[in-house]
Amino acid sequence: MPPRHGGNLAWAAAIAGCAPPEILDFSASLNPWGPPASVIAALQAALPTIRDYPDPDCRLLVDALAAVHQLPRQYFLVGNGAAELLTWVGRECADRRQVYLITPAFADYRRALTAFACPTVPIALTQVQTGFGAIAPSLTPADAILINNPHNPSGHLWLRHQLQPLLETGALVVVDEAFMDFLPPAASESLVEAVPQYPNLIVLRSLTKFYSLAGLRLGYGVSSPQRWQRWRSWRDPWSVNSLAIIAGVTALGDRPFQEQTWTWLPPARQAFAEALNAVPELNVATVSQANFLLIQATDSILPLQTYLLQEHRILIRDCCSFPELGASYFRVAVRRNIENERLLEALQTYYQRF
Ligand SMILES: Cc1ncc(COP(=O)(O)O)c(C=O)c1O
Repeated sequence: MPPRHGGNLAWAAAIAGCAPPEILDFSASLNPWGPPASVIAALQAALPTIRDYPDPDCRLLVDALAAVHQLPRQYFLVGNGAAELLTWVGRECADRRQVYLITPAFADYRRALTAFACPTVPIALTQVQTGFGAIAPSLTPADAILINNPHNPSGHLWLRHQLQPLLETGALVVVDEAFMDFLPPAASESLVEAVPQYPNLIVLRSLTKFYSLAGLRLGYGVSSPQRWQRWRSWRDPWSVNSLAIIAGVTALGDRPFQEQTWTWLPPARQAFAEALNAVPELNVATVSQANFLLIQATDSILPLQTYLLQEHRILIRDCCSFPELGASYFRVAVRRNIENERLLEALQTYYQRF
């Protein structure tokens, strides 16, 4: 079965006929500069602590999050990746009248909503790309809406004021900001600071993408303390491990790493997009504010995906798990220049040959 998510190196390596670390992975949207050296050093020093149970309240990390976001600690809940928290979003939405979902949508939303039989109503991204004014009047406090900002797989970014009308409806508004860290604080459109004012708002964040800690699993939610009390009663007490907690504290304090990423990304993304657009068969489909690009090809990219794996050990993310997009779309992470060039050369060779 083809994977439903990027970053499945075991699957890719089986097709490429090599070991997983030999794959150049453009399919998972991870920061190519991570994990930060500070985090690796902290993890090495913390290894002996795996003997003991982790702190179920992740106190050290919650303190760090409260300082970063300038909010009281009780607004934070740490999760085993944003994906764990999405499960509890599903549970939270189970008794809603309708749960609106912007499509195409990250496949894990469906997993979480289906697990709790949530009545889901799709809304096309194209319908709300310029704002939610037309949708907001149909939302009531009995409903919920799940938004991803910046949006995966398009990279589209909504501005805070465009999301504001949703908060006023009283509906549960879940904003997955897994990629928001890629915008520097001055350009951020995060709703985290609105949480104390809106008990109907849940913001989810991930530390696995910006800091490249996908294997460690670490994310957090920001919402009302009452909600977190309820979620704590649902989940397993040690879902976040001791190493993840230390990694999170260290990563949040690594300002040079953050600044390096913020300086690198915009010009790198622009240069990569221009080079991809120069391939006649390809078209970068949307303006991305995240660390990935969505590309439309003139034809199905499945043979291209196999070619890239078998001939170049390069993995791209097909968009077959996004039914609204299908096989002519693919997504790539923006990686280091030298790696982006490897992909570009392979793409040129493929399209010259076939
Ligand atoms: C939009 C979005 N939200 C959440 C996640 C899950 O993040 P985590 O690794 O923190 O579970 C992903 C992972 O790809 C994602 O793309």
